[in-house]
Amino acid sequence: MKRLLPLIFIALFLLPPAAFAQTPADGAAIFQEKCTGCHTIGGGNLAGPDLQGVTTLRDADWLTRWISQPDKMLANGDPVATQLLAEFNNVPMPNLGLTEAEVASLLAYLENPAAVAGGATAKPLPPGDISRGQAIYLGQQALANGGPACSSCHSVGQFGLLGGGTLGPDLTHAAFKYGDPGLAASLQSLPFPTMQGVFKNSPLTLQEAADLNAFLIDQDLHAAPQQADTLFVVIGLVGSLGLLAAGHFTWRKRQNGGIRQSLINKSRQA
Ligand code: HEC
Ligand code: HEC
Repeated sequence: MKRLLPLIFIALFLLPPAAFAQTPADGAAIFQEKCTGCHTIGGGNLAGPDLQGVTTLRDADWLTRWISQPDKMLANGDPVATQLLAEFNNVPMPNLGLTEAEVASLLAYLENPAAVAGGATAKPLPPGDISRGQAIYLGQQALANGGPACSSCHSVGQFGLLGGGTLGPDLTHAAFKYGDPGLAASLQSLPFPTMQGVFKNSPLTLQEAADLNAFLIDQDLHAAPQQADTLFVVIGLVGSLGLLAAGHFTWRKRQNGGIRQSLINKSRQA
């Protein structure tokens, strides 16, 4: 038996990778968890393109590289990726840290999504409430599953003026950037790498996603993003006027006194 062990190990390594999980069903589960925030298959575009038929549109090698490391392909200026980025409002697809086996099962699923009954999609949201969304955003209403308040990492509209989180991007126009069904879908799974770590075990409820969606759409429509700038201009103006005044009082006797006066006196005496 002892002699057989190394042989068993070698045999395991020699098995074709296909012997491990790569079925459309595994792919569907991964797709549901990590991709439905930004993609549908046959349900139209969200923040990212509808992926129906994508395996005939692009070759398997390109798809594998893209799904594994979209950030790298964008950074390297891959022409297809660069054009897609421009078409999709400059929302970059994030690197989701998938393993080779996960990417392979995703490809198997994308190739044959019909093989999985029901498919994988984001759910439709119930109607949302703007003021409840605001309370949730600011952390005045605690999240049901215990996630942190959005405002600890984000600013939006006038919320976050001189404060508010800066780890995440400003969300004032997130509703515009992600589009109408796009934002609603992405709020359901929060498919952003930094947030996944925090929200994976404390996801938003559908109602919370709906309320935040309503709040962010309202911010996009009504927030005055230049308010922050205006406030800083005012602070700047008041500040410099104050300095001028202080300078005036400090040095107002200067023309008639000090070194200058003594120089004048000296030249008169000469
Ligand atoms: C945060 C949103 C987001 C998530 C999450 C996301 N994608 Fe994307 N995806 C995009 C965007 C946006 C594009 C278009 C290119 C770009 O802008 O970077 C894209 C493009 C693609 C493309 C190329 C489509 C084409 O027409 O060639 C494929 C394939 C793809 N994504 C698969 C996936 C898979 C599989 C997952 C889950 C593992 C996933 N995406 C997760 C946003 C996302
Ligand atoms: C721990 C910090 C943190 C918390 C808490 C957080 N986010 Fe984020 N969020 C980020 C970061 C960082 C990004 C940028 C993408 C990335 O790095 O994952 C982001 C990206 C986003 C985006 C995409 C914005 C864009 O312009 O592309 C949206 C929408 C978003 N967050 C919504 C929310 C909502 C809604 C909440 C509250 C339920 C929330 N976030 C809570 C850190 C956070």
